[in-house]
Amino acid sequence: CGIVGYIGEEDVKEILLKGLEKLEYRGYDSAGISVRNDEELKIFKEAGRIKDLRDTVAPGFDATSGIGHTRWATHGAPSVTNAHPHQSADGRFTIVHNGVIENYEQIKEEYLPNMDFVSSTDTEIIVELISHFSNESEDTAEAFKKVLGVLHGSYALGLMDNEDKDVIYVAKNKSPLLLGKGEGFNVITSDAMAMLHKTNEFVELMDGEVVTLKKDEIVIQDKSGNTVERDSYIAEIDESDIEKGTYEHYMLKEINEQPAAMRKIIQEYQDEAGELKIDPAIIGQINGADRIYIIAAGTSYHAGLIGKEYFEKWAGLPTEVHVASEFVYNTPLLSENPLFIFISQSGETADSRAVLVEVKKRASKTLTITNVPGSTLSREADETLILHAGPEIAVASTKAYTAQIAVLSILAQVAARELGKESNISLIEELAKVTTAITAVIDDSETIEELVKEYLETTRNAFFIGRTMDYYVGLEGALKLKEISYIQAEGFAGGELKHGTIALIEEGTPVFTLTTQEKVNLNIRGNAQEVEARGANVCTIAMEGLETDNDAYVIPHVHTMLTPLVSVIVFQLISYYAALHRGNDVDKPRNLAKSVTVE
Ligand code: G6P
Ligand code: GLU
Repeated sequence: CGIVGYIGEEDVKEILLKGLEKLEYRGYDSAGISVRNDEELKIFKEAGRIKDLRDTVAPGFDATSGIGHTRWATHGAPSVTNAHPHQSADGRFTIVHNGVIENYEQIKEEYLPNMDFVSSTDTEIIVELISHFSNESEDTAEAFKKVLGVLHGSYALGLMDNEDKDVIYVAKNKSPLLLGKGEGFNVITSDAMAMLHKTNEFVELMDGEVVTLKKDEIVIQDKSGNTVERDSYIAEIDESDIEKGTYEHYMLKEINEQPAAMRKIIQEYQDEAGELKIDPAIIGQINGADRIYIIAAGTSYHAGLIGKEYFEKWAGLPTEVHVASEFVYNTPLLSENPLFIFISQSGETADSRAVLVEVKKRASKTLTITNVPGSTLSREADETLILHAGPEIAVASTKAYTAQIAVLSILAQVAARELGKESNISLIEELAKVTTAITAVIDDSETIEELVKEYLETTRNAFFIGRTMDYYVGLEGALKLKEISYIQAEGFAGGELKHGTIALIEEGTPVFTLTTQEKVNLNIRGNAQEVEARGANVCTIAMEGLETDNDAYVIPHVHTMLTPLVSVIVFQLISYYAALHRGNDVDKPRNLAKSVTVE
């Protein structure tokens, strides 16, 4: 879900549509814009993609201010009626909203008991409440503030008032939103990336602030009505980083960018003497903690599982990994001196942020590892480590996952070094070998595409098994496959499948078996035989040195602790081709969003 807005002198339609296209990865079930000129305001909405919306936008209607929205439905089906912008019944106010209003039912009962609502969204109550209050108090800014005082939940809001065409009202709570500055215009956007075609100068907005945005003026007020002065900053993003170039899909581009991302990480985290370096303040945090709690969601959670291995095995630091959405409502007993590490590609995931807000109340130490400098989790944690993977656009995460693992490995090694632990790995050299191995697998994509034809062309389910590190990679492989191919896929610890799920194995059921760990090689091969004996179509991916003649694919040899960085590439490519062969929208799989800013 994302919003954009513009107020200035140029024709706004194309500016908004372009912005929405860039935001589409955040949510894409429906979209809309409202635009106005001196005479009138028009709203265009469409279920589906921005390209469908583009087709419905009337040509020839020149307008110079407007707001736009791409929706990831939380209340009400994706439909034209539920698409934003929403307008008050009196036609005066128009609004776009990201987030969830938790008390919208109560608001309806208390303030708008007789109102007939057009949509099933929580958003419509906001715009009706503004209209309701403005009838009482007359002043839109005051009515808007009064409404914000009543709302519980998350929101990024852009509001237009038909009776004052020179202003867009803006506010946020929990959901991301930035202000952008230009010559003779100003903009709002959920992500700097989406407005780079207009400006690269942005101003942060904090929860609870209210903004009046005019073409030549931005006024920010805090909760008590005081004017806030805040410096702008230049977003250091290259527009070419967010173009697909010659690739058919962002996902394939991002898979292919992994060797470059590895090289960049090695370079960024190395000092002039060729030693690994991390900000001493961060190492101090780690080594001052008696336990590390890694908090994350989705793919980032899977990277966290690998990170735990590094912290425990290299630095001897007890580490737990938790799914953010569970941790926040079911917090385990905490150690005396914990460090919380938030792993998040986007730095915006609401589930993770909810944990951050809670642990900050206990004054715990916090570190965010993210791909997006200036993101909410980065701003709000004590410290940040950047992934340097470059913008990731495809919904299914690839290069961010490998970047997370690489950065975690460096962090744990430097922590171990500072703790005086003996190290039997020269990480820079080993990561360089990994980079070469990743390149070799990518160069071999045609062979991997053949595996898809052999194992996945018609199946409706698939299993991934592995032990130790390979188990964690199997979880990520299964997630990748289900996200974009819609094949029901599950990852299991090799020894666990037989304790129940083996009942699902039928003649031809594909079971991807990963073996890169010598210690458990024979065990996992035993597990593969158990399922094969029951009809499974076993596809074994082994690391060089452990391979047999029957293995379907062999990855180059790398350090035992770093094998996830290479084996996952096979699963990324398998998922990509499986989705492609099924004719799915690889970059924008159904029901998903890249950055989920609702809990
Ligand atoms: C969404 C995405 C996943 C991602 C997860 C966590 O659900 O679809 O691909 O892994 O969020 O995102 P984050 O930005 O916090 O890593
Ligand atoms: N809760 C609102 C809706 O369902 C906004 C969703 C969004 O953030 O896209 O319409």
